[in-house]
Amino acid sequence: MAILITGGAGYIGSHTCIELLNAGYEIICLDNFSNSKSASLNRVAAITGKSFKWYEVDLLDRQGLEKVFIDNEIEAVIHFAGLKAVGESVASPLHYYHNNITGTLILCEMMEKYDVKKLVFSSSATVYGMPDSVPISEDFPMHTTNPYGRTKIMIEEILQDLYVSDISWGICLLRYFNPIGAHESGIIGEDPNGTPNNLMPYITSVASGKRKELQVYGCDYPTADGTGVRDYIHVVDLANGHVKALEKVMSSTGVDAYNLGTGKGNSVLEIIATFEEVTGKRIPYTFAARRPGDVAECYSDPSKAKEELGWVAKRGIKEMCRDAWNWQEKNPDGYKGKDNNNFKNRHLP
Ligand code: WQD
Repeated sequence: MAILITGGAGYIGSHTCIELLNAGYEIICLDNFSNSKSASLNRVAAITGKSFKWYEVDLLDRQGLEKVFIDNEIEAVIHFAGLKAVGESVASPLHYYHNNITGTLILCEMMEKYDVKKLVFSSSATVYGMPDSVPISEDFPMHTTNPYGRTKIMIEEILQDLYVSDISWGICLLRYFNPIGAHESGIIGEDPNGTPNNLMPYITSVASGKRKELQVYGCDYPTADGTGVRDYIHVVDLANGHVKALEKVMSSTGVDAYNLGTGKGNSVLEIIATFEEVTGKRIPYTFAARRPGDVAECYSDPSKAKEELGWVAKRGIKEMCRDAWNWQEKNPDGYKGKDNNNFKNRHLP
């Protein structure tokens, strides 16, 4: 019996594959490679020394998806596949709603048809929008200002309704705060297409000389140093949160949301200073206007995940900065780098 991982070739998906394989699970990856590379799966196999099946399938391809369910004994699904760029979602809402919502509906219909009713869903702290206070706990109201965030809220509500209609489902909704860093090997990591939207991949691109300087969006927020405060979480800690959530859905029914964060907030300037301290690289920056939609402070109360999943983030921002740079330094061109063919892959078409 295997765990199906949709979007398994992505940044968080590939790190979760490693933790699942290390925990002894059999996995099957499914990805359309629209925002990822199959090289990441080859490298997952190289890091763990374990082979696994993967399929190039888009969730909107009902037939292709059904073949995966027919050909394999799937016992649970971890669902990462989805578009996730806030700005892009504002420009192309229909594309986001179709890809994220319709794709999830097709997945859930297929799971129902093949009696697979254990699901871990990749949600996001973006569902909290601009919180009235911090730290944020799971009972805070959900509201958001962009179509990407709305797809996450809508899918959470769809899954709540699905459970009400059939209480044999076991579902975990994981609300990520700000995942950064990379596996300690530096063999896999975050490889955004084009100009990075997010802080850490932009910082590492400046450190590598690919970009001249960082623009710090806003220095007049009501925070200690005036810059935005976020709850940065190491991607390996985040991946382990999925292993714990999988254990929960496999052993119980119901729908539960969990914040996956450290419960600590760090400002942009603190991240820059820590990165410079840990790597010895200088990060030139200039202050720019606030980015529309940004909040001043956003960090989690992760106590529910600790109490109910037995999960706690273990790594601090120094390790996050160290590991983010280790990946970038070893892979200046991400997965497009020259060493792709060094990683033998074992996969079925
Ligand atoms: C962090 C801080 C910026 C870039 C986003 C998505 C969220 C989730 C995580 C998917 C903020 C500042 C950033 C830069 C900067 N993704 N910044 N210069 O916006 O908190 O969350 O990624 O689920 O949905 O919204 O992350 O890394 O973009 O920004 O000053 O070039 O860094 O203003 O304070 P964010 P981020």
